[in-house]
Amino acid sequence: MENKKVVVITGSTSGIGEELTKLYSRSEDFRIFAGYRNPDKISNNLENVDYFYINLADTKSIISAADYIKSKVGKVDILINVAGSVVAGPVEVLPIDKLKEQFQINTFSHIEFVQNLFPVLDNSRIINISSMASFGHFPFISPYCASKRSLDIFFNALLIENHKNLEIVSIKPGVIATPIWEKSVNSNEQILNNNIYYAKELSFLKNNALSNTQKGLDVRIVAEKIKEISLKKRVKSSYLIGKDAIFAQILSYLPQDLINNLVKLGLKARISNCK
Ligand SMILES: NC(=O)c1ccc[n+]([C@@H]2O[C@H](COP(=O)([O-])OP(=O)(O)OC[C@H]3O[C@@H](n4cnc5c(N)ncnc54)[C@H](OP(=O)(O)O)[C@@H]3O)[C@@H](O)[C@H]2O)c1
Repeated sequence: MENKKVVVITGSTSGIGEELTKLYSRSEDFRIFAGYRNPDKISNNLENVDYFYINLADTKSIISAADYIKSKVGKVDILINVAGSVVAGPVEVLPIDKLKEQFQINTFSHIEFVQNLFPVLDNSRIINISSMASFGHFPFISPYCASKRSLDIFFNALLIENHKNLEIVSIKPGVIATPIWEKSVNSNEQILNNNIYYAKELSFLKNNALSNTQKGLDVRIVAEKIKEISLKKRVKSSYLIGKDAIFAQILSYLPQDLINNLVKLGLKARISNCK
């Protein structure tokens, strides 16, 4: 028990987090804490996994979750901030509350969780599941892009500033086949269905999101990669997963006006078939 690496994962009831939890639980080398917000979704209920409640939209819950972990262990070796959501919509009509919600879930909550876990973080590795969206090229999901970019900026600052030898890694995957896309269509339904000015663009966005559930990378392969990165002897501060993520990074080297023109052209070509 004593020599086991302590791994904390949020978002363990779906997609990447669920796969990661399963992967670590197959080995005796880890003591795993897995965060959930809905107890009904703990389908695999793995015996050697300590499930803890965390709702990233609620500060009290974030503090309680960190307190629970601190009461159980003196050190967290690997923290993987996986949980996240997608808020979509044109900036013109984006409800500010939805924008705040996006930053709370994808950015602020992870900072708050880490702040509260600080006493048990020392020579630890923090892995954030950011996204290729952090490069900021995707219109109509700008809340998601901005929240991921902000996450990367804050944690990169923490990497430079911290006095506890923390290693901080941003993993930026491209599209992965997980339920997040279908969830995003449901949770943004109001805004995606009711806009006369951007009807074609939003219809494309919706169809594209739904098709991501099939055409994205296999989540098991992505989880394997993340686990591999989490156990490397030496890590870089940023990793890309998927060809689309590599493309997004290359695009980001171009001047902003050129990027904007390319994105506009790409969007125009892709929505020309939408009703
Ligand atoms: N899928 C992709 O294409 C892709 C690409 C790049 C990056 N990512 C990032 O990867 C991470 C995992 O996404 P995924 O694709 O695995 O999506 P997913 O299947 O929807 O999983 C997201 C997880 O986060 C949890 N969660 C969402 N909001 C929460 C909240 N307020 N409090 C606590 N937990 C919450 C969900 O809980 P429930 O199970 O209760 O819903 C779920 O367990 C996200 O940060 C996402 O941005 C995904």
